[in-house]
Amino acid sequence: MRKNNICRVTGYPLTEIINFGSQPLGNGFVSSANPEEEYFFPMVAGFAEDSMMFQLINQPEPKKMFHENYAFFSSTSMHMRNHFKTFADHVIDSGYMSEADPFVVELGCNDGIMLKHFSEKGIRHLGVEPSLNVAKEANKVGVKTISEFFSEDLADEVARNHGQADIFFAANVMCHIPDILGVAKGIKKLLKPSGVVMFEDPYLGDIIKKTSYDQLYDEHVFLFSALSVQYLFGTQDMELIDLHPQSTHGGSMRYTLAHKGAYEANDSVAQIIETELKQGLDRQEIFQVFKKNVETSRENLVELLTKLKAEGKRVVGYAATSKSTTILNYCNIGPDLIEYICDTTPIKQGTFSPGMHIPIVPHKMFADNPPDYAVLFAWNHAEEIMAKEQSYMQNGGKWILHVPEVRVL
Ligand code: SAH
Ligand code: TMP
Repeated sequence: MRKNNICRVTGYPLTEIINFGSQPLGNGFVSSANPEEEYFFPMVAGFAEDSMMFQLINQPEPKKMFHENYAFFSSTSMHMRNHFKTFADHVIDSGYMSEADPFVVELGCNDGIMLKHFSEKGIRHLGVEPSLNVAKEANKVGVKTISEFFSEDLADEVARNHGQADIFFAANVMCHIPDILGVAKGIKKLLKPSGVVMFEDPYLGDIIKKTSYDQLYDEHVFLFSALSVQYLFGTQDMELIDLHPQSTHGGSMRYTLAHKGAYEANDSVAQIIETELKQGLDRQEIFQVFKKNVETSRENLVELLTKLKAEGKRVVGYAATSKSTTILNYCNIGPDLIEYICDTTPIKQGTFSPGMHIPIVPHKMFADNPPDYAVLFAWNHAEEIMAKEQSYMQNGGKWILHVPEVRVL
């Protein structure tokens, strides 16, 4: 564990903002309600004014989180499958791949949800995916994948073996990597002079507005803003050329970057940077407000669940997301308040939630014996889930949402 409160990008001191206490791994599902051993780490978020990076001060070793039994399969969500199909079509039509025999690299390609659209079109590509089980799924669907952690050294190796990349993608993974400066250095070397980087991650501006503190968990070591991304890539003589807000994962941002001077930045860059400066994402004051809102959210959720229990209502959780690990452990909510959590991912079923040990069950249990209330932990997939749970709602089943504030629907 790191001892000093220093920014992971600059090495200068940062300000501690919120202490979430001892937290298990977000995807650390355990096989028994009383496990002999379980890993916990002190989860504290801090803000560094120099780099404008909001970040976890300690993070477990990457190999503890990303391995041959990684529990998150991207393709479980239909909405995300559609999202990556549209994203891939956009890139293929964008003109950024005009060269003959273009080469596309994706970091954290998971089960191939994005790259398979390039593979199907015969476009030269490479996925870099350290979690072996999901990397194998990608290979099965025709996506050429190596099971490695991306780093500056790996970037050199990829460039040596395959040449430089026209497009470098990453979705929901840049925010996972503690040595983000090493990644930026690697990208700088791997990208052709005319190449572009496109990456998406949960967006700090939305997280602050919605008090969606559950975006902080072991894997998410950074929550980016355009300001912090501009700072990070500025150190490598690269710049933002486009910013495109996304509705995925409860509010994300797609950052497009290139070598300095290679392309003209469009208006979105100046506009969004100005909005962020108005929101105060460059100063620590806004994070102190966020901290207060997080504490209020915790009080309201615990109060509601305790009241429902006293009234004899049945309450369950819907979707064992990694985000829910932060909420359950921070709010100290266990099986006494939430009977079970249903989830469609086979590898999670029959296990117990990290830290609080709530049973994880197949969706069938929810469908066969619906509760009075379900806490929608996958609130970022609310539209998709509510569309398929019409009969639950028609029969009087209610949802509990905690974002942007705790409420019953
Ligand atoms: N891109 C997918 C997967 C996101 S989950 C999507 O948006 O749905 C994050 C993925 O990044 C995991 O599959 C994890 O194994 C991978 N990952 C974590 N650290 C990485 C690193 N240093 N290099 C490449 N991939 C990494
Ligand atoms: P995510 O919020 O990190 O994308 O994780 C989604 C989790 O929610 C994953 O474990 C699958 C689960 N899930 C369901 O159980 N039912 C659903 O309908 C959806 C969309 C997701």
